[in-house]
Amino acid sequence: MTDPKDKETFVLEMFSSIARWYDFLNRLLSLRRDVFWRGFAVKELLKSGGNLFLDVATGTGDCAIEIVKSGGKDKRVIGIDFSPQMIYEGRKKIEREGLSDCISLLQTNALGLPFDNNYFDGAICAFGIRNFSDVRKGIGEMRRVVKDGRRIVILEFTNPANKVLRGIYHIYFKKVLPIIGGIISGKRCAYKYLPDSVMTFPDRDEFKKIMEEENIRNVQSFALTFGIATVYAGVK
Ligand SMILES: C[S@@+](CC[C@H](N)C(=O)[O-])C[C@H]1O[C@@H](n2cnc3c(N)ncnc32)[C@H](O)[C@@H]1O
Repeated sequence: MTDPKDKETFVLEMFSSIARWYDFLNRLLSLRRDVFWRGFAVKELLKSGGNLFLDVATGTGDCAIEIVKSGGKDKRVIGIDFSPQMIYEGRKKIEREGLSDCISLLQTNALGLPFDNNYFDGAICAFGIRNFSDVRKGIGEMRRVVKDGRRIVILEFTNPANKVLRGIYHIYFKKVLPIIGGIISGKRCAYKYLPDSVMTFPDRDEFKKIMEEENIRNVQSFALTFGIATVYAGVK
């Protein structure tokens, strides 16, 4: 898919079509590791303090919720996503958790954020950046809306460094996951897109370099669960 507009349309329709099953399948297919990965990323985000945070490509709002649960109810979070169905599921969950006073979800595109420069005390994006039609623009937008000295944290899938583990992981990711995801959600193509998009995404060192080239300072990368996921944390 070379045309950025085609990729955006495909990604939007794909996530909207699986929104109802998204949380259940995340927990099942990752054996709940996704909860730990987001928790780690949020801890990195909260390190530089502040009260107002942005969760980019928030989906059903898991990072936004984790920010308030870990950081306290004085935190305010705006979560943005371009899928109305994901936002719908997210709002229901936030209401159930009693966090509607702390978290607002907004339907908008991450590549043109409707916020002033230097507005937030930090921005996070979990499993979103790989789906953007322009990764550098996505990083640039996060950087633009964050205050100087505050943190930008990105969580994304990566490949395990160990060859044997990588082999096992690839069999699971490419063969098993699309079958289970397809049966439950009825959208096998979405769970085939997941491994395909991870395999073509820049590896850990390459992505860290991209963040540095986009003027994020002190970028650190943390490989989690044998390197299946990586948290990148840097400062504006
Ligand atoms: C894999 S989900 C991640 C959701 C959530 N952050 C999480 O940790 O579960 C990716 C999300 O990115 C959103 N997304 C992808 N491209 C986007 C864009 N350009 N602008 C806004 N949202 C986008 C999709 O709608 C989807 O909800």
